[in-house]
Amino acid sequence: MRKKLIAGNWKMHLLPVGARALVERIRAELDPLAATLAKDREVMVAPPDILIPAVAQALAGSSILLGAQNMHFEDKGAFTGEVAPPMLLAYGVTHVILGHSERRHIFHETDDLINKKVLAAIHHRMTPILCVGETQDEHDSGRALDVVLRQLQRGLEGVADDHVTRMAIAYEPVWAIGTGRTATPAQAEAIHGAIRGAILERYGRERADTVRIIYGGSVNDENVDSLVSKPDIDGALVGGASLKADSFARIVRARTR
Ligand code: PGA
Repeated sequence: MRKKLIAGNWKMHLLPVGARALVERIRAELDPLAATLAKDREVMVAPPDILIPAVAQALAGSSILLGAQNMHFEDKGAFTGEVAPPMLLAYGVTHVILGHSERRHIFHETDDLINKKVLAAIHHRMTPILCVGETQDEHDSGRALDVVLRQLQRGLEGVADDHVTRMAIAYEPVWAIGTGRTATPAQAEAIHGAIRGAILERYGRERADTVRIIYGGSVNDENVDSLVSKPDIDGALVGGASLKADSFARIVRARTR
């Protein structure tokens, strides 16, 4: 059985005091349920890099995992403004969101660059969360599946059979991110099924059944149950609603069937 993954993407929000307070409030809600939750789900938060040390400290002793929102693919070097995988690992970061639509569209990250980052994450035994998703235009013109499967294929280039199961894929339709418009559970399930089908074709049934495919785009405490109860939706990548402890905790407690 795949464990659900509920991941909070804090984006470029908060200061150290607020980040610590948010973690404390999330822990107050979730720590008492940790043993039950651990049976079938994992929880992760991804703060901005500069808040990672404070958040790592605030998370000490909890089962909530620490993620990053991006990273460079090299271990070190002359890359002004970038953060390397070993730096994240030093603070206990285990997961890294890669190819988020804001990275693709605002910062012009290409499939090739994202693929290098995926391979670097795997090399460092981190869990890459590879984001894929179509824009409004691509959606309206019926190209959603083509776009998503191409991003998936390019993102997975060179990912070995034995490593693919370490990854998670996040389907995030760009038109649903931060807009309050979410894909319907049926729409999302159809794309998730196709993503799993593509992984199956290339990596076989057993591996395809292991890879988690999570949904992102205006997930909140009201729509999460209907999304994550779909068989191919293995969790959620949550932006806005992950900045409020009570809604994030409610999302984590989602009914999954
Ligand atoms: P949202 O963001 O939940 O605010 O739509 C999701 C994401 O960008 O990962």
